[in-house]
Amino acid sequence: MSVCTLRINDHDLAVPLGTTLLQAARQAGIHIPTLCFLEGLSAVAACRLCLVELEGSDRLMAACVTAAAEGMRVHTDTPRLREIRRTVIELLFTEGNHVCAVCVANGHCELQNLAVEVGMDHSRLPYRFPQRGVDLSHAQYGLDHNRCILCTRCVRVCDEVEGAHVWDVGWRGEHCQIISGLGEPWGDVNACTHCGKCVEVCPTGALFHKTDTSEEKQGHPERLQALMHARTHQQWNP
Ligand code: SF4
Ligand code: SF4
Ligand code: FES
Repeated sequence: MSVCTLRINDHDLAVPLGTTLLQAARQAGIHIPTLCFLEGLSAVAACRLCLVELEGSDRLMAACVTAAAEGMRVHTDTPRLREIRRTVIELLFTEGNHVCAVCVANGHCELQNLAVEVGMDHSRLPYRFPQRGVDLSHAQYGLDHNRCILCTRCVRVCDEVEGAHVWDVGWRGEHCQIISGLGEPWGDVNACTHCGKCVEVCPTGALFHKTDTSEEKQGHPERLQALMHARTHQQWNP
């Protein structure tokens, strides 16, 4: 197996070629914040929270999709990166309607946890208060577009793991949103198997069980890793 050597912060590492900077950092116990990335799904580099600095380059790179290369010198926690991460989180909060006190995911929300991590005690940007709808047409689940941060985890898990491809990203710019089927209500999309995987991986309270009330939703993105491991090792075969 070919390996490359690199340095991340003050850790000297040797990793197989093709390893991403995020994987290399995690193997070394170095924390890089992520939001759109989820082990087991394809990486789309949508949120930009995992940006890192490379010595010798002004360009910031998304650690979840950048392959480690021989001799790289990577920095994951600099004042510039901390400022960018805080701004990214502020943008996500101000572009939607995240009213944590009445949210099903309050206390169990990855966006909320990241706000704490990056030190966002208030937003320096104006709130946009967009007018967005809620889809309660599905028998078991709901989708509140006000809390959606367009990470596309639901799109990818439904397509890549469940094979149903119920979700897509529709429209453009400020009107961009997750759509079910060809834009029909979720409950009218026959392709949905009611598996609940999209709800489990949603990092906010955007996708939820209809029976959940404030603070009750607990997503379980780690179940995806268990499922992928079982598939890889064909553990359900007799
Ligand atoms: S419940 Fe399952 S099949 Fe239905 S949209 Fe979610 S992931 Fe896709
Ligand atoms: S509904 Fe949830 S999982 Fe889907 S894009 Fe929005 S925030 Fe991400
Ligand atoms: S986790 Fe890398 S861009 Fe979102």
